[in-house]
Amino acid sequence: MSNDDFPLKELISADRIGKRVVELAHRISRDYCTTSNETGKPLVLLGVMKGSFMFLSDLARALSIPVEIEFVAITSYGDELASSGSPRTVVGMSVPLEGRDVLVVEDIVDSGRTLEFLLEYLKTFRARTIATCTLLNKSEARVVSVPVDYIGFAVPPQFVVGYGLDAAGRYRELNAIHTLETRK
Ligand code: IMP
Ligand code: MG
Repeated sequence: MSNDDFPLKELISADRIGKRVVELAHRISRDYCTTSNETGKPLVLLGVMKGSFMFLSDLARALSIPVEIEFVAITSYGDELASSGSPRTVVGMSVPLEGRDVLVVEDIVDSGRTLEFLLEYLKTFRARTIATCTLLNKSEARVVSVPVDYIGFAVPPQFVVGYGLDAAGRYRELNAIHTLETRK
């Protein structure tokens, strides 16, 4: 796969992603089937826009428990290819989460700052439980320690795109995960 700007190299195929999403969905369905029976309320899948949209949509369809789907946006790194560590804001939190089981769905955990910020922010909503799920885990780039309960794939500390993940708004539509080679 190539394009006008940067060469892309496939890292995780669409087929592997599909299989892993089903495995994660089975685990999540199993882990939450009793709690959702106890509370009588569906699990809230809280997707972090925009990167998680494709993963969340496949995950939600592979789950065998009822869910509610919500999204929040967190002000991002803009077009930079690495974490700037600048302050963030959360946009779009409108549903009451009090007493609910919440699963935060991320595309990738890199420095960990975004997830740390979101988890701190969510504390005030008095959810019953909050767990985290990420398609990709770039653990070698971690700056702050954050709890990640469900991980799709470990990835090296390189910039990746596709399957929802972008570089300056591009490549979200790709079916596979690719590394983006910033040097030609
Ligand atoms: P963190 O705050 O450094 O953990 O970064 C989390 C967010 O940065 C992710 O939700 C992504 O939106 C973005 N991000 C981090 N690494 C990458 C990458 O390799 N490709 C695309 N987006 C990334
Ligand atoms: Mg993200």
